[in-house]
Amino acid sequence: MRAYVLRHYGGPEGSLLMDVPAPAPRPSDILVEVRAAGLNPVDFKFRQGKLRAILRPKLPFVLGNELAGEVIAIGSDVKRFRVGDRVFARVAKDRAGAFAEQACVSEDDAALMPRNLDFAAAAAVPLAGLTALQALRDELDVKPGQRVFISGGAGGVGTFAIQIAKWLGAHVTTTASRRGEALVRSLGCDEVIDYTTEDISKAGRRFDAGFDLIGGKTLRQMFEIMKPGTKIVSVAAIPEPQTAIRDLGGRRALAAVFWIISYGIRSRARRAGIGYRYLFMHPSGSDLAQLAELIEQGKLKVVVDKAYPFANIAEALAYVESGRAKGKVVVRTQ
Ligand SMILES: NC(=O)c1ccc[n+]([C@@H]2O[C@H](COP(=O)([O-])OP(=O)(O)OC[C@H]3O[C@@H](n4cnc5c(N)ncnc54)[C@H](OP(=O)(O)O)[C@@H]3O)[C@@H](O)[C@H]2O)c1
Repeated sequence: MRAYVLRHYGGPEGSLLMDVPAPAPRPSDILVEVRAAGLNPVDFKFRQGKLRAILRPKLPFVLGNELAGEVIAIGSDVKRFRVGDRVFARVAKDRAGAFAEQACVSEDDAALMPRNLDFAAAAAVPLAGLTALQALRDELDVKPGQRVFISGGAGGVGTFAIQIAKWLGAHVTTTASRRGEALVRSLGCDEVIDYTTEDISKAGRRFDAGFDLIGGKTLRQMFEIMKPGTKIVSVAAIPEPQTAIRDLGGRRALAAVFWIISYGIRSRARRAGIGYRYLFMHPSGSDLAQLAELIEQGKLKVVVDKAYPFANIAEALAYVESGRAKGKVVVRTQ
């Protein structure tokens, strides 16, 4: 089968489309004929080798973290899926393999696709949708009437986060440039701060929950606009010890490293009286089923910026790497 394979870490030249053997399902796996795969910043960060402290699979390695397609075989222990089901999934991080004509997915990580989406739109949902759901519902515990601040609302995660925060009943403020303003407003965002012309720290200390998709200076400014006693969850800044303990399987040595590298952010958070957590989202078929329900009910729209043919996956990844995507980028494998 054709697959987009990482042969060595670094620039785009280290990855290429090539023929590899099709994967063989384990007893709890479904084998999926991939119709479309979603792209995410983690794909180029992984290719660059930036995740090597956390994930070190043997190379060559088939890239790709989310997919939609049709089940063509099931392992002997699979209970919830049948051949012919249309499914979508955020695949296990240490297996990846979504940028391929076929992929194995643990049945626990997959869900039936929303009936009102095609494969390209369904492939755009899992990673970004689950990240937004797990951050806002589980980590920030957003409640009706709360004021939620989301940095970077126009991208893959942001377009889901705005809508999920609205679904949870919040008043939502996001940052976007003029290029993204109309989009974030169309998704229900109440207030938009143009990060290219306005100073976020002047927004006033009025937010009950912060979800950071940008990191750096943006995160530092967010500490100035949160009410004391509230919390910021970032998926783009620096991991902290809880990331290693709760999201990466209790890796204590890694927790010590994260303690050191996050010292500055945690000190800033402590001084401001605000909690700081860096989340690594996790695959979850049951959370995906909840997203599918919201999509079928018309409560969650999927924004696909560009869909490329599989042959042009390097171009698609370069577009994601440009950092300008509005919503999601996908490739169609067929
Ligand atoms: N830890 C995890 O589990 C996890 C999971 C998912 C994602 N992430 C991370 O979360 C981050 C966001 O992911 P994504 O998929 O949403 O990225 P994305 O789709 O590539 O985001 C692109 C969008 O960000 C906007 N943007 C760029 N700089 C901005 C700034 N300074 N302020 C506000 N908006 C800005 C751009 O708008 P303009 O072009 O208009 O500027 C563009 O629309 C990435 O770093 C990704 O690696 C982490």
